[in-house]
Amino acid sequence: MKKIFGLFSIFAILATGCTKSSINEDVNSEDASASPVTHRGCASQEVLESQLKADPTLAGRMEAIESFTANYVANNAAARLIAGGIIEIPVVVNVVYKTAAQNISDAQIATQIAVLNADFAATNADVASIPTIFQGVKAGNTNIRFVLNQTRRVATTKTSFTTNDGMKKASGGGVAPLSPTTKLNLWTCNLSNGILGYAQFPGGASTTDGVVILFSAFGVTTAGAPYNKGRTATHEVGHWLNLRHIWGDATCGNDQVGDTPLHTGANYGCPAAGIKSSCTGTPVMMTMNYMDYTDDLCMYMFSAGQKTRMNATFAIGGPRNSFAQP
Ligand code: ARG
Ligand code: ZN
Ligand code: CA
Repeated sequence: MKKIFGLFSIFAILATGCTKSSINEDVNSEDASASPVTHRGCASQEVLESQLKADPTLAGRMEAIESFTANYVANNAAARLIAGGIIEIPVVVNVVYKTAAQNISDAQIATQIAVLNADFAATNADVASIPTIFQGVKAGNTNIRFVLNQTRRVATTKTSFTTNDGMKKASGGGVAPLSPTTKLNLWTCNLSNGILGYAQFPGGASTTDGVVILFSAFGVTTAGAPYNKGRTATHEVGHWLNLRHIWGDATCGNDQVGDTPLHTGANYGCPAAGIKSSCTGTPVMMTMNYMDYTDDLCMYMFSAGQKTRMNATFAIGGPRNSFAQP
């Protein structure tokens, strides 16, 4: 039964594809005017869809992860943690640059690691803005911590990259991940088509595993507003730890997390407090969740259910267990 349901959800993701947005965002406006592209934000989902088409074994692996996760959530199996109950993830930052601006500074990289640590520990200053209705389901500390392991700087002749993973291989003008089964690889580079970033979900090939972030959205930057507070990485690392978009990539879709409300679709900008979905029960939407599409300043929480789902990836038998060795 479970298996059938899970397979159905993988196919549902395939079938629905990206949510199109009528909002014409103005970052990288030359790209936006050049082509009627799907919304910038859809990249992780698009990449997943093309990987599912290219690799007939991927759906099965993801299906097994889904069953494993459901079992973990149901049985609350113990996650494999390092001392202090914390999972500490070494991070390799791959700076793939053509221009000086793309060769972001060590200081900017440090701000990104700091934002990830604050957001995943719920010590971000704006955690105080979580509305009363969601206080009961906030994640608190996910017990996931990030430590900069090394920064690699690679000059490229590529003016920009697409979501076909060129930045992840020398032949594509980039650099292969370093120790991708034990270190989280982040690539920062220029991305075309207004894409802010994309992640590979658990289950994908280790040769392309990790997260890609547009250089002007990496860390707390002076440029790139409203995506200049480091939340693109928070969102993408959420995907890397198996979180889906909060609207389930479909109208009133399922994000496989029990305590997040149904969302009509993606929310953008900085929505008014208390806006309701048009889904069954018209629940108030959790627009401040990192897995929505709101501006960096307007997303500031994971839910407890999302925390459990992320921690499931580190459990023995989980797809990210190799990152949580004692
Ligand atoms: N939409 C991108 C993705 O799904 C990232 C969205 C980031 N949003 C933000 N406010 N930084 O891959
Ligand atoms: Zn996303
Ligand atoms: Ca939900």
